[in-house]
Amino acid sequence: MIASDRSRSQVRSLSLPQWGARDDERSRAAPPPAPQAAQDARRLVDARGRVIEDLRLGVTDRCNLRCAYCLEPGARFLPRERLLTVEELVRLACVVESLGVRRVRLTGGEPTLHPKLPVIIRGIADRTDVEVSLITNGTLADERSLKRWRDAGLGRITFSLDTLRKDRWSSIARAPGSPRRVVEAIRSACAIGLQPVKVNAVLLRGVNDDEATDLADLARELDIEVRFIEYMPLDFGRGWGPDRFVPARETMALVEGRHRLVACERHRASEVARTYAFADGARGRVGFIASVTSPFCGACSRLRITADGMIRPCLFGAAEWDVRDLLRSGADDTLIAGRLLDAAWAKEPGHSIGASGFRQPERSMSAIGG
Ligand code: 5AD
Ligand code: SF4
Repeated sequence: MIASDRSRSQVRSLSLPQWGARDDERSRAAPPPAPQAAQDARRLVDARGRVIEDLRLGVTDRCNLRCAYCLEPGARFLPRERLLTVEELVRLACVVESLGVRRVRLTGGEPTLHPKLPVIIRGIADRTDVEVSLITNGTLADERSLKRWRDAGLGRITFSLDTLRKDRWSSIARAPGSPRRVVEAIRSACAIGLQPVKVNAVLLRGVNDDEATDLADLARELDIEVRFIEYMPLDFGRGWGPDRFVPARETMALVEGRHRLVACERHRASEVARTYAFADGARGRVGFIASVTSPFCGACSRLRITADGMIRPCLFGAAEWDVRDLLRSGADDTLIAGRLLDAAWAKEPGHSIGASGFRQPERSMSAIGG
């Protein structure tokens, strides 16, 4: 059983997030220096011994959707000149690889909006040995684009899809599109051999929490992993709260109401999802990411770099450190690596969602990079 630490009634009593640090309050300069030994090791590691092996690299903060748990219809985006260029993105991937990162996930916003996405993928794949993956809402993906990304060096792909019902799309994604189109893209991704193909779904109470079983059936039909992510207070509209929140434990119970599940082995301690196969031997899997009710911060191996070149050691941390200024001021790789090492060392121990002092990050998921 997962997410057992806090019952649903406890979740109900969680205090609502406060406004986070203002843009100008954020630390954007240099982080405090990591100890010499950590710098000499040339390995991204934090003060608690967590080793960073996964980079989430934002390629744009723009998105064509306005998902209810992420962006608001009136969202404003960063000026283009503040976004990292293709060369800067590729260079950062090379530097982080030299510091022990093994996997780079291209994220956004919606990364497929970037006109040079294949160039970014190829640039990283050609110059490093990291596994390059992509997270997309799938609305702009089709067999042709998927093949282009695959041929450029893309390995795994994760789609976000929260509803299979056409009539619900507009109330969740709040922009043109359709679940059918995304499901077609998912099928194409499987057909052209991207591996593995996963789907992330965020369930909101009273909105799409009755779709857990149908989404699990999609996993069975397409032989993919569908992962249910707990709604986190990372939404632009600050709508997170007990009324909308669905604990992973409840989602799992809903799926188990239709299919008996068997726990799968964990491959890495830093894996965020608890995954389950179907007891009847059907293909596909379901996963549950209980970021709120059962945080996995203690085993976190991730570091984020936002599309505007800020290093964020923690999704929920207030701290972010500027690496774009270094990139643009002629710094060599050693200096850039030094800033990454210092920022990683300063990684926050974890989030405190629900605690009285919790402050929701100013940026939404779309601007941090999922
Ligand atoms: N809570 C949980 N998941 C979220 N995502 C975006 N915003 C939130 C949120 N507030 C998900 C997207 C995508 C991934 C990057 O993060 O659905 O799958
Ligand atoms: Fe866009 Fe993803 Fe945010 Fe939805 S969750 S608005 S697809 S960035």
